[in-house]
Amino acid sequence: MLRKVVLGLLVAVGLDGASAHVIRQAHNTTATGRERTSLNAGWRFQRFTSNPDGLSYETLRPWMLPAANDFLLEPKYERPSTPAPGSNVSYVQANFDDAAWQAVTLPHDWAITGTFDAPGVEGPLGKLPINGVGWYRKTMSLDAATVESGKSIFLDVDGAMAYSAVWLNGHLVGGWPFGYASYRLDLTPYAKAGENSLAIRLDNKLDSSRWYPGAGIYRNVWLVTVDPVHVGHYGTYITTPAVSAQEATVHMVVDVENKGNGTQDAEVTTAIYEMDASTKKVNGKVVATFSCGSVSVAGNSKQSVNGSVAISTPNLWGPLPSQTPNEYVAVTTVSVNGAAVDTYETPFGIRSIAYDPNTGVHINGQPIRVQGSCNHHDLGSLGAAFNTRAAERQIEVLQEMGNNALRTSHNAPAPEYLDLADHMGLMVMDEIFDTWNFAKVENDFHVIFPEWHEPDLRAFIRRDRNHPSIISWSIGNELPEQRNSSGTATAQILQDITHSEDATRLVTVGMNNANASSGIAAVMDIIGLNYQGEGKGNSWSSSFPSFKTEFPEKMIWTTESASTLSSRGTYLFPVTSANSSVIGGSPGDGANDTTSYVSAYDLYAPEWAGSPDKVFAAQDQHPYVAGEFVWTGWDYIGEPTPYDNSSRSSYFGIIDLAGFKKDRYYLYQSRWRPDLPMAHILPHWSFGKEREGQVTPVHVYTSGDEAELFVNGVSAGRKKKDEFEYRLRWDDVVYQPGSVRVVSYKDGKEWATASHVTVGGATSLNMTADRTSITGDGYDLSFISVAVVDADGNTVPMASDAITFEVTSGPGEIVSTDNGDPTDMVPFPSKTRKAFSGLALAIVRSEMGGQGDIVVQAKAEGLKGGKVILTAV
Ligand code: GAL
Repeated sequence: MLRKVVLGLLVAVGLDGASAHVIRQAHNTTATGRERTSLNAGWRFQRFTSNPDGLSYETLRPWMLPAANDFLLEPKYERPSTPAPGSNVSYVQANFDDAAWQAVTLPHDWAITGTFDAPGVEGPLGKLPINGVGWYRKTMSLDAATVESGKSIFLDVDGAMAYSAVWLNGHLVGGWPFGYASYRLDLTPYAKAGENSLAIRLDNKLDSSRWYPGAGIYRNVWLVTVDPVHVGHYGTYITTPAVSAQEATVHMVVDVENKGNGTQDAEVTTAIYEMDASTKKVNGKVVATFSCGSVSVAGNSKQSVNGSVAISTPNLWGPLPSQTPNEYVAVTTVSVNGAAVDTYETPFGIRSIAYDPNTGVHINGQPIRVQGSCNHHDLGSLGAAFNTRAAERQIEVLQEMGNNALRTSHNAPAPEYLDLADHMGLMVMDEIFDTWNFAKVENDFHVIFPEWHEPDLRAFIRRDRNHPSIISWSIGNELPEQRNSSGTATAQILQDITHSEDATRLVTVGMNNANASSGIAAVMDIIGLNYQGEGKGNSWSSSFPSFKTEFPEKMIWTTESASTLSSRGTYLFPVTSANSSVIGGSPGDGANDTTSYVSAYDLYAPEWAGSPDKVFAAQDQHPYVAGEFVWTGWDYIGEPTPYDNSSRSSYFGIIDLAGFKKDRYYLYQSRWRPDLPMAHILPHWSFGKEREGQVTPVHVYTSGDEAELFVNGVSAGRKKKDEFEYRLRWDDVVYQPGSVRVVSYKDGKEWATASHVTVGGATSLNMTADRTSITGDGYDLSFISVAVVDADGNTVPMASDAITFEVTSGPGEIVSTDNGDPTDMVPFPSKTRKAFSGLALAIVRSEMGGQGDIVVQAKAEGLKGGKVILTAV
């Protein structure tokens, strides 16, 4: 009977997958009474730039801290018995008239639609209006049966920036300060049958971050109702201690929570289902069932039970392309007196992991070189508001490049991001902090680190530890205290906490400044080096050898590399003859301080960083290094080095903010996908009269080992890559209109070709949608690229025409536009966007419940317009 119910549930709700472009299942009802309902719809929101309510973290803190108790070894905090602050604030009252407030649907980033001139918000934070106090209000209905039967009612917030405080029906429930944390609050004591008034106050400070943090309730929010006896929050932990092709042991720990007053005897069983590798839905096949035993749980406490089962010929999880990301779902049932009271799903994967100081990361016994990228949490012009399809698109573009690993720099991602990594077969370095006790900027996490590091870290690991994609925990990045004894001590504390929550993965930290004799290096499981392994800038030599000598038993990897800068499609002359050069200062240094553009020759980086070529050479010269995480895969909002004052978004990305590939995308692809026949030429060949007769170096990225370049049909010579050389360069070419063409070779055989011609004048707009069929759920997106083209359909590489987008009919809307130009200060929601280096992007979102054709048009003065038809299904 039980099995039938569970199976029914799984077939009904499935599990969201890479191909499901929606939030996690919005409604998950089980016969046992667990319900998880989306609370994303129907909010009212108001932002205040000065404090409207007299509240602050200082006044609210004693009521927030008890939420940490679950994630502290010793529960320490009692809810104060004095009257809670805020109950007299009008926004928490049910009868407050919020009709004039903005109607919003979550996930919501209040800053992203703003103008790039927010007072006090400088370029590093992206110039958008992130600061202020934000209030969110919502009325939600609870049925009498739920409330009166004594069910537990929880609010799960996946992320809110920042300093959340929550009221239900005028009562302060609690809160959680860290803006990247997911948190749960128990609404039960304040809930009533019928309408309930929920109010959330956020406080986002200036100088709280080194990059754009976003603002608001920017991730999904859920209401969870369960029987008083249930699987606790993040209450399952699955490990696979023995894995082979023939058999795997699955071990599971289950926390049973009893929120009732009397003791209850609970019995826990688990059934393991296969997840279909392509659809990412449970396919109904039970591969094992096992008991985790019985336990007597006193009222208002938790007890854990555990059990193991052997699975023969398991379908292993492993990263693409050499392995397959197979997954399973454990469905755990808690029964009391023989009756099932809770059913809980835990997706997981079966895999082994090992870390070798000489051969790097091994998954299921196979060494896999880390070809990774660091990425911030924002989704370009959509801001920090999480959207599964936008995140999936980011990962897809990275994966096509051969990227097999992601570093969630420098904070916990949305939970769905890890689901995507599991499904899509990527490895993840899951990172939590950018600061510890010492500040990078005035109001960053260091302010609350002493009180919150333990609950934040434990909650983070418990939330994420069942994801097979995670291969390492990172407890921090470039800590100011990395070279002193405080840093050593903190690293030890954080690593010990991490080990106590998950002993199956090794722990790392990004060190840019510690050396082999620093205490922190001796503490860490894995030596993580930012930039210094490759030798920073022009002056430093590689620090790989010194760390290797000091710690021969530890794995070393590059937690952050490159930080190469460029503006897509913008080439500045002269070009340095070096293979890596520090940006700024003199001719040939890649910078144009007038336009705030950086040359796209992929040779320029800040003084601490280097070109991809330099990084590749250092990695290859020190083959024991397990691989690298490039700074960054995608451009992000804020941190527009080297133009921190004049620009709004970064220049570091291999892919620009709109999702267009910069030239070095193909340099990474040539290294990371050596079997893919490919060649790429830069620059374009459509310069104006002023370049005619000028030296215009031509560089080629190819997965071949040799190439011949033809300039206007005449050979400029055949070149072969030397050892530790990754691009072929013809630096003396003189520009004349016509064409450049390259033929590349591998092992002497023709391998790939590429060419550019000098284009004619712009005549029309060429529109392409990444997907023409989208789900009509109010979340799904189509990314529509527009190229300004000549009569032959060639992209005009210097075109900057203003393009106006419009949905002329159908259930969709244009959410934002972009072009990847860090200097473009036109707000993201604008329907008109200038092309940058010939390209622009519009993002179209479906309407909730919408079906049918969505017609999207693009127009530009003097050009033939374009049209695409999408279908919402
Ligand atoms: C690193 C830092 C990153 C980013 C990068 C830019 O030092 O860890 O967060 O700031 O520099 O090059």
